[in-house]
Amino acid sequence: MQASSQTQSETPAGGRGVRFSDRVLILGRSGDGKSSLINHIAAGASCQVLIYDTKDELVVPGATPVEDPARIDWNARIIHFVDDSCELKTTGRLFDLCWKRKAAREEIGPGGKLPRGYGLVVVVHEAGDLCLDQPNQTPRSVINYLKKGRQRGLGLIAGSQRPVNIPPSARTEIQHVATFAGGLDKRDIAEIAGLYELTPQELNATLSDLHGRYGRHAFLWRDLTTRTTTAWPPLPEHLRARSIATIIEQEHPDG
Ligand SMILES: Nc1ncnc2c1ncn2[C@@H]1O[C@H](COP(=O)(O)OP(=O)(O)OP(=O)(O)O)[C@@H](O)[C@H]1O
Ligand SMILES: [Mg+2]
Repeated sequence: MQASSQTQSETPAGGRGVRFSDRVLILGRSGDGKSSLINHIAAGASCQVLIYDTKDELVVPGATPVEDPARIDWNARIIHFVDDSCELKTTGRLFDLCWKRKAAREEIGPGGKLPRGYGLVVVVHEAGDLCLDQPNQTPRSVINYLKKGRQRGLGLIAGSQRPVNIPPSARTEIQHVATFAGGLDKRDIAEIAGLYELTPQELNATLSDLHGRYGRHAFLWRDLTTRTTTAWPPLPEHLRARSIATIIEQEHPDG
């Protein structure tokens, strides 16, 4: 199967590409550009956005960082939740609140200002943090959110360097997957090739061809609903500038 190059929309998040209640998985090695792409896609969501910042690596204009799930202001359009300890108890509480968020927002009372729309998108830059890289340790509320949240208007945009170490439903319940041309760890490739309906060899060859043409920041996008795969060149600077958050520059091992 041949990946087609994009011609129409400027970004996979544009047009009818990504719906707010979709699950989107962005894969690649450290420094490939996962967070940049995630921040760009999240900026396109017009519903409430909760950024789960497990590395304390983001500056989110207009949002005050909050570390206790109980202190989240469910009135805010953008919520910046920082949790660099990544205790599963906190992760569990956070997703439980996201699940019950409708009730949390109704408590605001008749005078309260509710965010536009009813939807919520949770943004997680490293999905392995949802289970401390131990898929069988995934909190029940995270599983619920991933498996049943879509019907409630609860979306997810998640990144991962090692997709076999993330909650299994963060791989199986998705509508979109993107893999950067930098490639994947060879222990992950078989699992992910299946999502593209490719053999591991075909996926490796497609990614390395993309890398040869555009470098590591290019990516291969798969819409699992329409079963179409599109090769994208690196997100251009002007689109990366349209971001929901700024990444505090960090060292990248091979960047
Ligand atoms: N399309 C692009 N063109 C040029 N540079 C890019 C592009 N995307 C990302 N970068 C740059 O690459 C670096 C790494 O990007 P980013 O932090 O998004 O990677 P990451 O995959 O999230 O890494 P990590 O797994 O370590 O979090 C940053 O300096 C970013 O500005
Ligand atoms: Mg990142």
